[in-house]
Amino acid sequence: MTTLKTILTPNIDIETIRADFPILSRKVNGKSLVYFDNGATAQKPKLVIDSITNYYTNQNSNIHRGVHTLSQESSVAYENARATVQKHLNAKHAHEIIFTKGTTDSINLVATSFGKKYITKGDEILISSMEHHSNILPWQQVCEEKGAVLKVIPINDAGELIISEYKRLLNERTKIVAITHISNTLGTINPIEEVIALAHVKNIPVLIDGAQAVPHTAVDVQLLSADFYVFSGHKLFGPTGVGVLYGKEKWLNEMPPYQVGGGTIKTVTFKKTEYADLPLKFEAGTPHIDGVIGLAVAIDYVNKIGFKNIEAYEHELLIYATEALQKIEGLKIIGTAKNKASVISFVVEGLHPFDIGTILDQLAIAVRTGHHCTQPLMNLYNIPGTVRASFAFYNTKEEIDMLTSGLQRAIKMLK
Ligand SMILES: Cc1ncc(COP(=O)(O)O)c(C=O)c1O
Repeated sequence: MTTLKTILTPNIDIETIRADFPILSRKVNGKSLVYFDNGATAQKPKLVIDSITNYYTNQNSNIHRGVHTLSQESSVAYENARATVQKHLNAKHAHEIIFTKGTTDSINLVATSFGKKYITKGDEILISSMEHHSNILPWQQVCEEKGAVLKVIPINDAGELIISEYKRLLNERTKIVAITHISNTLGTINPIEEVIALAHVKNIPVLIDGAQAVPHTAVDVQLLSADFYVFSGHKLFGPTGVGVLYGKEKWLNEMPPYQVGGGTIKTVTFKKTEYADLPLKFEAGTPHIDGVIGLAVAIDYVNKIGFKNIEAYEHELLIYATEALQKIEGLKIIGTAKNKASVISFVVEGLHPFDIGTILDQLAIAVRTGHHCTQPLMNLYNIPGTVRASFAFYNTKEEIDMLTSGLQRAIKMLK
């Protein structure tokens, strides 16, 4: 994890990396694209795009149920991808990796299935103030259905969890803690090792929303002892519509199936169904085969660059951009945690984020504006939204200079 102490000199060959991403050479409004919306979705290297074309050109076939060559090849590729994810997260077993549609789907799976099995009236579910709606709503639904209570860990002005409050909120009624690894709006890197350890003292399982973490840092679920770790493929330079739920074998074995149907069974009669073992118990229907294969290619790609390099390089971008943006009069950065990923949200006094975003788009600079699916967090800061620039390892300081000058231009035009 990136801390100031562990910063190394990044070994990033930026020109070669940029050449791997075809979209980075496209023009928008006649200008070279500057893509700073990586928090929403990351761009795809050609290797990933090619893997999808290759799948449909040479292999397309349904998995797990065929004796013919194409089906066997697809099945092997799909299960190899599971092994790639297992290795990437350092999960103990491949069957602890469940392929889903994405982070939202993974959280819905856990909330519904875990909720069915373990949550009853009066129980508490603990989340934090900085959660994405996808890590609020599924728990809110369980609470409504079961008569449980949603509790929220507060944050300080910098956007950091107040750990003393977290400790106070953990109690014998708490059935699960669900918390983001990195905030998509504030960029805060949460101390999830500590969050998990404190919950485990009281035997409470923890789900980590890793949607914003996996593009920036390596994750070791065994080291963390995370009970559940979820992420989306598309933010990790892979295809959309595919995601991962890692769950400890013990929980996944005990939890009931989420969706049921083809693929999830051992035997079916009209009287009774015997469900398949992990992981198929949680993968109903034909999965996103090409997406899963593409995700594995994306994981291999980022690992080739190396997360030590990615962290160090992105930290340089973060510091560079923070210093440049802070100099702009009237601009306020929202989220100033000590431990931050390369995500900067900001507001400019008297201006609406949407207007700023629109002018930046005319300059071919893609940023995100709005509440970033964190409305409760916006309410806390008493703002309608922010402009968010989120960087990936293919971004450059020159692009940040363009953002800075683009912002100055937008402010002049709008004031
Ligand atoms: C922290 C966080 N959690 C969950 C999600 C939802 O991800 P997806 O839309 O891929 O399911 C996002 C997406 O922005 C996110 O940033």
